[in-house]
Amino acid sequence: MKFTINNNAITQINTDCLVIGVFEDTSLQTSAATVNQACEGALQKLVDSGDIDTAWKQATLLHGLAGITAARILVMGCGEPEKFSPVRFDAVCAVAGAFLRDHAAGNAHICLHDMQTDERDTQWRLRQAAVALDRANYRYTATKAPKAHDYDPLSQLTFSSLTGDDEFPAALIDAQGIAKGYLRSRELGNLPANICTPAYLAKTARGFEASYENVSVEILKRKEMARLKMLALLAVGQGSANGPRLIVLNYKGRNDASRPIVLVGKGVTFDTGGISLKPGMHMEQMKFDMGGAASVLGAFEACAHLQLPINLVAIIAAAENMPDGKAYRPGDVLTSMSGQTIEVHNTDAEGRLVLCDAMTYGKRFKPAAMIDVATLTGACVVALGHHASALMSKHDDLAEELLQAGQDAIDRGWRLPLWDDYQSQLKSPFADMKNVGGMPGGSITAACFLSRFARDQRWAHIDCAGSTWKWGGDEGSTGRPVGLLTQYLINQAR
Ligand code: BES
Ligand code: MN
Ligand code: ZN
Repeated sequence: MKFTINNNAITQINTDCLVIGVFEDTSLQTSAATVNQACEGALQKLVDSGDIDTAWKQATLLHGLAGITAARILVMGCGEPEKFSPVRFDAVCAVAGAFLRDHAAGNAHICLHDMQTDERDTQWRLRQAAVALDRANYRYTATKAPKAHDYDPLSQLTFSSLTGDDEFPAALIDAQGIAKGYLRSRELGNLPANICTPAYLAKTARGFEASYENVSVEILKRKEMARLKMLALLAVGQGSANGPRLIVLNYKGRNDASRPIVLVGKGVTFDTGGISLKPGMHMEQMKFDMGGAASVLGAFEACAHLQLPINLVAIIAAAENMPDGKAYRPGDVLTSMSGQTIEVHNTDAEGRLVLCDAMTYGKRFKPAAMIDVATLTGACVVALGHHASALMSKHDDLAEELLQAGQDAIDRGWRLPLWDDYQSQLKSPFADMKNVGGMPGGSITAACFLSRFARDQRWAHIDCAGSTWKWGGDEGSTGRPVGLLTQYLINQAR
């Protein structure tokens, strides 16, 4: 969506909808006070009569307020000022975005960033408002046409800069990149597995090469993978007619030889469990098992759009996990690209198998940091639910940087331990390790498995199984953790 600055007096702006915030039990402030003055106290009267709900996340739409040029005013309740926080601010913006998508307004002028929060300044709130509104304005249409009575989503957002400066603010430039990344990630996540195959992910990556400066793409198929001895990745893909791909995207934002950040994404375009077949109930959700890859592609696109002064490599391990006469089976022993052998105890623990070869491949770029992102374990959803991504790393500085980025972007992670104490759960009598560690600490033992392919490497693992999609209500991909990843890249660049 297009973002622009409009610094005209907010009472004089020609817009389908002016969006302002109000706190509970306090006098009207900033934009709300300006509007109230122009309409000679009518806004205050509606608050006093209870027609405007000032509780947090409540939305009230007003029409034809006297003294105001805007056709409508959307009043967003912000709740108690003492409780108002960056997280609460973000949620208010998201509700406003969803409301506008589902109502008649085709464009809107946003003033929400004048609602004071602790910790964050106006420029942060401007950026966050743009990203949150853009995300919430999303509607999936790839395989379902909108109904005649559906309102169109917003096509344009304007903002008051609140600095009096008409220059396009850096905050909105960043917002445009982050929003683009989120959109890419969500669209890929939501596409069904009969469309979004490993080859489709590869084609998407190829598209970046054409659309952005300083991007090159390399795509490895079965033959090249076999030459590199990526037998773990190949095993996962061998039961599917949609062959696996290793997709390598290279972005050079610096001309020097500075070491790149390497992002690795799990791109299992559908996870049936393989021979260790999953139960049928909810299996359709396993089309989202490429959420890690989608968010890596989204963050890569954001970085290329913003032309950040860093070097970045994104590696997508794309495969479809199917049961078949050719499929790999429990008991198989696989020799990974690293030379380490793996006894397969469960073909449903496939994510770590595709990732381990992609990580070994990634080492050739001599990464300053390697971060893999994956919908790796159901245990992660049990541990953290849908609000946090799990973060595991032995590198405290890297872990801190990623947690901070998640805080900055309101796309938060939470750290789990990655102690060697858990490693013994992976012992196998027939191989260097088995691919499952049993029930206790399932997300941690999955990360322990990966750690064996990241030796001597500054590395972190993000399990986004709970955060990258949701069902019930506003269903589908969330695009996460594009916000966290992109913010990390931005923080590294500046
Ligand atoms: N893609 C799943 C993890 C998953 C399950 C994510 C449900 C989100 C919701 C992964 O490939 C998987 O099946 N993991 C197994 C591992 C087990 C066999 C050790 C799991 O979590 O059950
Ligand atoms: Mn699985
Ligand atoms: Zn999976």
